[in-house]
Amino acid sequence: MKTNSAQHYDLVYNAWIGPDKTKEEISLIEQLTPSGSSILDIGSGTGRHLIPLKQKQYQVFGLDSSEEMTQVLKSKDPQIEILPFSLLEQKKDSIMSTKFNLVLCMWNTVFEVALEQRELDNFFESAANLLTPNGVLLINTTDADDFEPQTEDFVHMVEHQSLEYKMTWKLLDYNPETSTTVAEEQLIVSNRFKQKTQESRRLITQRHWRHDELVDTAERFGFVCNLVRLSSTEDKYFIFRKKRRPIS
Ligand SMILES: C[S@@+](CC[C@H](N)C(=O)[O-])C[C@H]1O[C@@H](n2cnc3c(N)ncnc32)[C@H](O)[C@@H]1O
Repeated sequence: MKTNSAQHYDLVYNAWIGPDKTKEEISLIEQLTPSGSSILDIGSGTGRHLIPLKQKQYQVFGLDSSEEMTQVLKSKDPQIEILPFSLLEQKKDSIMSTKFNLVLCMWNTVFEVALEQRELDNFFESAANLLTPNGVLLINTTDADDFEPQTEDFVHMVEHQSLEYKMTWKLLDYNPETSTTVAEEQLIVSNRFKQKTQESRRLITQRHWRHDELVDTAERFGFVCNLVRLSSTEDKYFIFRKKRRPIS
């Protein structure tokens, strides 16, 4: 009966996110870089952005720490290239042959990728090395400045083909000093007789980086930030561009 939640991720979360937010995000990306350019999505998940972007003729590349999420993405489009995790370890002096016009890190993925300041430094350093000189880094997070961990808990139900999918997100631990949470994501699938047919649980640790922490760190790695808001969500969209070097 045990399963992984990745196989039902789209069904549950796409319904939760709704189509408007993803559509608006894709339009923002189209404004940032023209069709044909190369895009790396860090924490590409099941391809919420990469699949529509590939249909719009972008060259898309994924990267995700979860084998299950990557498998779902591959099952939807086997041609999408998944790059090795080690790409995020690129240091300044390494010779990188692959550079991207846009690096994406959407829907709080940066909260999972970087749990300590050292990891956030590493993230921005790698992003700077992975981008072309005029490249753009787009990070999307919920607003973490007035973070209240208890309000994060939710239960979300979806009915599909006579099955009920119940996703529960529950806070287990919170460190107020670092604004780090450990939450349990539980998915229960039940049939029309209310019998459980599948169940999965996973723990997700997130550090809810504040606006100034993200921007200050990015600045140390040569980025300037422009904040954008969309009409369909209260999320923040941080657009980081590399500072232009003065001509000597
Ligand atoms: C909230 S989901 C977002 C998925 C997708 N970007 C979206 O917007 O629908 C976070 C994703 O980041 C991945 N992830 C978590 N930690 C990661 C890490 N250290 N490196 C790469 N991916 C990571 C997870 O496996 C998951 O697919």
